[in-house]
Amino acid sequence: METTTGDVAKACVIGWPIEHSRSPLIHGHWLKHYGIDGSYEKRAVEPDQLETFLKTLGAQGFRGCNVTVPHKEGAFALADIKHESAKAIGAANTLWVEDGQLHAASTDGEGFMMHLGESAPAWQGTAAPVAVLGAGGAARAIVYALLQNGVSEIRIFNRTFARADEVARHFGGSVRALPWDEREPQSRDCTLLVNTTSLGMTGAPPLALDLAGMRPDAVVADIVYAPLETNLLRDARGRGLQAVDGLGMLLHQAVPGFEKWFGVRPAVTEDLRSLVLADMKKA
Ligand code: ATR
Repeated sequence: METTTGDVAKACVIGWPIEHSRSPLIHGHWLKHYGIDGSYEKRAVEPDQLETFLKTLGAQGFRGCNVTVPHKEGAFALADIKHESAKAIGAANTLWVEDGQLHAASTDGEGFMMHLGESAPAWQGTAAPVAVLGAGGAARAIVYALLQNGVSEIRIFNRTFARADEVARHFGGSVRALPWDEREPQSRDCTLLVNTTSLGMTGAPPLALDLAGMRPDAVVADIVYAPLETNLLRDARGRGLQAVDGLGMLLHQAVPGFEKWFGVRPAVTEDLRSLVLADMKKA
């Protein structure tokens, strides 16, 4: 860790635009809760300023930063040390400066697994297949994390089959691409089904998926968090399946960055969830 402007630990989130980011709310809550003399700021960084900003991150006094749209790929490309979690996606959401070098990681997958572990501790899925809907960055992050956690078979269903196929080829072996239309019959024997598409989000079309016939011990997770209770999660609960919401992933993905920059591994609590939910209601 290094700062060049005094002892106050500083981090930030960068994006263009950046106003919508809830990261300052999350990290600000933890800084206060743990009584840390630090700050977490929003920085609007224009795309053509990204390189300069990141090359001088440490010199500006920052221990690191979160990265949001549209800089996730650019930050990954510019980092000196690219961690496996980021390589799996080709993008990074968490950066830190260590021994003068810029490190890049993606914490979405870890955030997903931490939330899954807390919300559905009975999930025993590693020996049975897992179904992933979608083939974007979030899907890649989750597939990477599932494999890291020993899942033996992953089936990817995506509207555009070629993208699912690309993800399957990237990870190889036990990751298979399947046609979107087969998502119902081919996920019935899965212990976990994860929606990583934008379907079901406020303003997006609904996700058409009949959960009839799924294993009674299956867990259904959605990364969509607005609304918090998606139709998918409501259907899952209605059928007695365990439902895991998308807000937990959003909160848990912030944990590794905070720990790197401020030296404390923070807890995702009900207080934090309520704070972020209240902010979402305001928006
Ligand atoms: P992210 O990087 O956040 O995961 P993304 O790359 O835009 O976002 O991926 C969005 C996912 O939602 C994709 O899997 C997309 O499917 P395509 O690859 O076919 O575009 C999926 N998606 C979005 N709208 C959809 C729709 N109407 N029907 C089915 N899938 C949809």
